[in-house]
Amino acid sequence: MEVIICSTAADAGRTAAGKVTQIAKACGPEAVIGFSTGSSPLATYADLTRRIDSRELDLTQAWGFALDEYVGLQPGHPESYAEVIRRTVTEPLQMNPDRVFTPNGFAENLKVAGAQYEEQIRAVGGVDVQILGVGANGHIGFNEPGSSLASRTRIKTLTSQTRVDNSRFFASLDEVPRHCLTQGLGTIMDAKNVVLVAQGEAKADAIAALVEGAVSAGCPGSVLQFHRSATIVIDEAAAIELKHADYYREAFAFKPSWQRFE
Ligand code: GLP
Repeated sequence: MEVIICSTAADAGRTAAGKVTQIAKACGPEAVIGFSTGSSPLATYADLTRRIDSRELDLTQAWGFALDEYVGLQPGHPESYAEVIRRTVTEPLQMNPDRVFTPNGFAENLKVAGAQYEEQIRAVGGVDVQILGVGANGHIGFNEPGSSLASRTRIKTLTSQTRVDNSRFFASLDEVPRHCLTQGLGTIMDAKNVVLVAQGEAKADAIAALVEGAVSAGCPGSVLQFHRSATIVIDEAAAIELKHADYYREAFAFKPSWQRFE
């Protein structure tokens, strides 16, 4: 696990986008990228957009897979993750909408929909780089505490805290769905590379548990300690609870030139 502490949230976005760009370019035009919703990756998407606009990066033939979707929102609902991904990822990154997928939370049979989503990811060779945020309770995707560390795409019940956190996007708390269809922790672990971004003090406890705590379903993101290529990009505020922050800073400052990316 590599931890990169950046001075600001914008800087973290630039750094995460640099890492994603490096991997995507190495994978060629049909790179497979996993996308997260939430506010955490927005600075990363903004910097990826800058790289697309300046033709440093071309994702017109790339594949995209969202992590999760609410259950029961009508297709086209502005807060469905399919719509959020269209607005924040597919359009600004000039991706082909026919190559960007979100789990089908409106399917009649959610079990089948979960299995089909896994198959769609497998069919294009698996995710090359998964962009992640993290919830204040340590969830990644919508894998709430207690999620099996080996789970696959399936229905989950949202915690009341997650529903309250996400109620800012809906007219009222009652409108926030109770269930979601989310890639499992096992699905996320199958991505060849993972880049997780977090900013702000509200994420400091989750980041400390995820990076330095025990690997446990109590902090689902801690499973990333077992990932062979996980990069955690955070700002100073999200780093305040880390015991080994100075070591991470030193490791980054003295990175060998062949490991660097811009
Ligand atoms: C949401 C999403 C996650 C996201 C997390 C944090 O509910 N399902 O993928 O990482 O919660 O959201 P934010 O980045 O807005 O803090």
